[in-house]
Amino acid sequence: MRLTIGADIGGTKVATGIVDEHGRILAKIKRPTPAANSDAIADVVGDTIEELLERYPDTPVDGIGVGTAGFVDEERSTVVFAPNLAWRDEPLKRRLQQRVDLPVVIENDANAAAWGEARFGAGQGTNYVICITLGTGIGGGIVTDGSLYRGRFGLAAEVGHYRVVPDGRRCGCGNRGCWEQYASGRALIAEAQDLATTAPTRARRLLELAQGDPSRIQGAEITQAAKEGDAAALECFRAVGHWVGLGLADLAAILDPERFVIGGGVSDAGDILLDPVRESFIKNVTGRAVRRFSDIRTAVLGAAAGIVGAADLARR
Ligand code: BGC
Ligand code: NA
Ligand code: ZN
Repeated sequence: MRLTIGADIGGTKVATGIVDEHGRILAKIKRPTPAANSDAIADVVGDTIEELLERYPDTPVDGIGVGTAGFVDEERSTVVFAPNLAWRDEPLKRRLQQRVDLPVVIENDANAAAWGEARFGAGQGTNYVICITLGTGIGGGIVTDGSLYRGRFGLAAEVGHYRVVPDGRRCGCGNRGCWEQYASGRALIAEAQDLATTAPTRARRLLELAQGDPSRIQGAEITQAAKEGDAAALECFRAVGHWVGLGLADLAAILDPERFVIGGGVSDAGDILLDPVRESFIKNVTGRAVRRFSDIRTAVLGAAAGIVGAADLARR
């Protein structure tokens, strides 16, 4: 059995696991992501890897794959820039290699998750799938002809930063009007908090779930209220779903995938999110009277996609 380690560095937690060639996680460790300090983040990743290796001294591990938010260079070793993390030119591979004597591959978090879904999750059965992760930002991964599309410089599929609104909202990448400012998990939360502040009566249920404090409305509260049929929460999902669908329509115009897979915490809402996404996709995609529509579904591996995908990429 060939085992590898996959690690997923997110804004709030680092999750690392030992994974077999069927994408099964045999053991897993989770740690909070240290705040805004790149050395500390790399140390935590190194710690989790060493711990797993120590816990399973007789298990031969072949390599390590790490998925991290941000632009990863073409050598797959350095995080050049991360709009939502404090990383600039972070030599992550070198740092990890100083601690463990195994080959290390660094990959963008959403690319890793897309690869995991494509191989073992909601992307199975097609060679043309685009996965979108809706979280703090929007991550993207493009699998075309059965392989991960990285572009010439390793920076392909940064879909969160394509401009949907000229001169629109400010983005962590330095531009304005990026898709992730309108269609991410964070955008959904902003929408609900804004509604609760400006129209507290309409947002009564959302406020109730957040002890009356608009700033305590997070994804879980919005999803719960929407599942109960709360009109205000459903309105937030419709607003964000509209933007998600617009973006998918443009991606389809360029890449024509067979399937879109939507992941990230927000996708727990299932059809509450996907219905407005599909509606807006079909209303906006070019050639809609004649083309075949890409199928849009939610991710199935959840938070494990990043670990599983990164571990599988370490095998290649
Ligand atoms: C970053 C991507 C990342 C995505 C999800 C975006 O803001 O630019 O590199 O994949 O967020 O974490
Ligand atoms: Na990506
Ligand atoms: Zn941006």
